[in-house]
Amino acid sequence: MTVLMSLLLGYVPLASAQPPFDVLHWWTSAGEKAAAEVLRRQLSDHGLEWADYPVRGGGGESAMAVLKARVIAGEPPSAAQIIGPNIRHWQALGFLQPLDHPLLAPQWLFEPVIDQLIRVEGEVVAVPVSIHRINWMWLNPRVFEQLDLPLPTTWSQLIELAPRFRAAGIVPLAHGNQAWQNATLFETLLLSLAGPEFYQRYFIHLEEQALFDDRVLDALILLRQLKTLMDDQMHQREWQQASQMVAEGRAAMQIMGDWVKGEFTAWGLEAGKDYLCLAVPGTNEQHLYSVDTFVLFSQQADPAQWRLFVESLIAEQTQVDFSLAKGTIPVRRQIAMDDFDDCARASDYVFRQASAEGRLAPSVAHSMATSPQAETAFHEIIHRFFMDERVTPETARSQLAQTLKALQ
Ligand code: GAL
Repeated sequence: MTVLMSLLLGYVPLASAQPPFDVLHWWTSAGEKAAAEVLRRQLSDHGLEWADYPVRGGGGESAMAVLKARVIAGEPPSAAQIIGPNIRHWQALGFLQPLDHPLLAPQWLFEPVIDQLIRVEGEVVAVPVSIHRINWMWLNPRVFEQLDLPLPTTWSQLIELAPRFRAAGIVPLAHGNQAWQNATLFETLLLSLAGPEFYQRYFIHLEEQALFDDRVLDALILLRQLKTLMDDQMHQREWQQASQMVAEGRAAMQIMGDWVKGEFTAWGLEAGKDYLCLAVPGTNEQHLYSVDTFVLFSQQADPAQWRLFVESLIAEQTQVDFSLAKGTIPVRRQIAMDDFDDCARASDYVFRQASAEGRLAPSVAHSMATSPQAETAFHEIIHRFFMDERVTPETARSQLAQTLKALQ
């Protein structure tokens, strides 16, 4: 039957029967959803329909649990947001589709740390989409102006401001008391107090001397001090609810990755006007990073689909549009930053400098530096220390040392 005939007879020929291209990820906040929409639209414009499979829960722990359940049930998604060394674990199990695409071949396309994330034994098995900077502080400028207070550039200045905010009924530091958020804050404090070289010796090389260094105690003690700047409604608060407190002037500051900037963008807020971005005290030249990457499951892989997926994510316009929505910087080198605000430009400059000088800090809380088991244990130890004042800094330091070594 010809197409014309079938149309005349009211029978519309089915589109070529393509399996749905379902994508498992954890981007469910306003900014995260807006960024995922950029990818979905880019794929749709090229004829590939992204069947959304979002799993709530900042940081992605729930998403990884759901992913494992789907794979065990023999129903892996087409693509999944898997980040950091976890990619190697999935590759070793034989689930991932090799991505031998000419676009991903050149090793100069990305900074070395990115290329090392996506390539296992020389084979590309993941496609990167953008780079987060985590050592950011987000401030509400109106709150500081109304109280005529200076912007804090040191920890003692920040702590000294707290009583002035409290007196005005403003929470000095907005935070969500969740394990991954507490771990994110701790690693930022360690970077701030001890610097990137120590951070690498501690989290990557697991040097005995670093694991028991007093600067780990200092970071734990500072974490306890910052807890006194938070509010007692913070238990299980989502990170984006803390961001909302800052945006609305109910809180003065939040220390969190630049997915907060994606949230502010989704709410129509403008950097430098509605909010300020400041490097966490002591980390002006430092970049504590996480990189979002996607893998394709070979069981579902259709070459036309996954090649289009790779091309779409790496396309220059996608790199710009996605990062503008997500609060990140493009992962691909040599993307013009003309459309980006000063926060993103600072992040881009510092990342490239720190990468060239070998002093990037991979986020442990966001899966960039250890095994999934070590990451979860790290979250739990810091969370318990944060919640239970009976746990001494010395106890937490030795628990971290033993666990990071045992589960590396
Ligand atoms: C990170 C992820 C970011 C951001 C954040 C909060 O792990 O890489 O894209 O969404 O979690 O959910």
